[in-house]
Amino acid sequence: MNKSFARLQWDSRSEQAVSKAGHLIKTSILSGFGKPSKERNKLILGDNLEIFSNLLAEYETKFDLIYIDPPFLTGKQYRARIGRNEDSRRPEKWAVKRVYQDTWRDGADYLDMLYPRLKIMHHLLAPTGTLYLHLDWHASAYARVLLDEVFGRDRLLNEIIWVYHGPSPIRSAFNRKHDTILVYTKSSEYTFNVDDVRIPYSPSTLKTFASSTKAGFGKVPNLEQGKVPEDWWYFPVVARLHNERTGYPTQKPEALMERIILASSNPGDLIGDFFCGSGTTLSVAQRHGRKWIGCDSVPLAIMTAYRRLLLMDKRPEIELYQTSAYPTNNTFHPEADLQIVGKSATILLKGIRGGTIIPFPECINIIEVDWNFDGQIFSSQDQSVRGWRDDDLKMTLSHTYEKTGAYQVVVRCSDQEGSSGTLEFDVLIE
Ligand SMILES: C[S@@+](CC[C@H](N)C(=O)[O-])C[C@H]1O[C@@H](n2cnc3c(N)ncnc32)[C@H](O)[C@@H]1O
Repeated sequence: MNKSFARLQWDSRSEQAVSKAGHLIKTSILSGFGKPSKERNKLILGDNLEIFSNLLAEYETKFDLIYIDPPFLTGKQYRARIGRNEDSRRPEKWAVKRVYQDTWRDGADYLDMLYPRLKIMHHLLAPTGTLYLHLDWHASAYARVLLDEVFGRDRLLNEIIWVYHGPSPIRSAFNRKHDTILVYTKSSEYTFNVDDVRIPYSPSTLKTFASSTKAGFGKVPNLEQGKVPEDWWYFPVVARLHNERTGYPTQKPEALMERIILASSNPGDLIGDFFCGSGTTLSVAQRHGRKWIGCDSVPLAIMTAYRRLLLMDKRPEIELYQTSAYPTNNTFHPEADLQIVGKSATILLKGIRGGTIIPFPECINIIEVDWNFDGQIFSSQDQSVRGWRDDDLKMTLSHTYEKTGAYQVVVRCSDQEGSSGTLEFDVLIE
């Protein structure tokens, strides 16, 4: 039963294993409050195949839940909306930026991308772990056959259909308004917190049972407790005016991720999203007390996710990494004044000096300060972060030192595409 009865074959199919490469990935920046830690959440810029080869050594069988929302084989080029305060009825006027391509030579090229990654994710999952693979009609049938092979056919927990609605230009077929989420568990022992995802019975069911307890053929459900959701879910797509909207294309709704995370993980569990885009999985995981690792190969995705996490009420501790394939882009020259009064230091931000085209602060969304730079890894201790619909950034950041001494203060500002600039001050607290 466990063996799949069909095997997907394509010309370039390869069984080459991904080698385990040393330790974790080259650190570029730490944004947290202290020394790097294995326990801390990680946001990694890079191709996930390269990232996996680094993660495997430490994280094999460590992930309790993996959710991925990879390219769907749509053949489209996706753009992010990066401007603000534009007329929402005139999309042709928006400031946009190309982010990622879902274009492939052919279906085989796409399967060459997906197949090795699914195999590695199977290794990364804990024995009790669950994988959610989010696709649509373009590739879900092929992925189902691959997952049957990698996980075993009897490890399919659910095929979830996420339904939504919205405008569509299609006039020659029914509107395509659902995605398919394939859910596989690593073994027959897995987390499924049914009581955390119950939903209210419909008003008509409640009314029926109020009028007759025999309505359920003698079985009266626990109406107060709510019901177990079906395997088809309705959640609206993230639309332009939704508060959670980041402008990143193909952003998934937090409500969808909430159901997945609550059902298939527990507080303290480790969640992976290796195609994390705007960081929906990561921010919902964070809100529910889960640990997480997220990656994406596009700087704008990582910066969107980072900004989104920094905008949370309780800012998480995050380590930022990037693979060596990505050069560090120090483009900006920030200008700021420093004032010292007693043991307090205040940075007064002024703007960007020369060089780049966009004047400060329009493209800069994040300003961070390391009040005690160790000369190696930038540790973000204070942040000014622009909200998704805000025009202003806080231009003053202060810190009170506990001890006298000499400190090196580094101010870093970053734009939405990960370009940044730093400014250093020597501070003497007497
Ligand atoms: C459908 S989007 C994910 C959207 C995300 N779930 C959200 O809510 O914002 C797919 C993401 O996969 C990323 N991606 C594509 N190929 C990748 C690869 N080989 N490694 C890492 N990320 C990749 C793209 O840059 C894109 O951000």
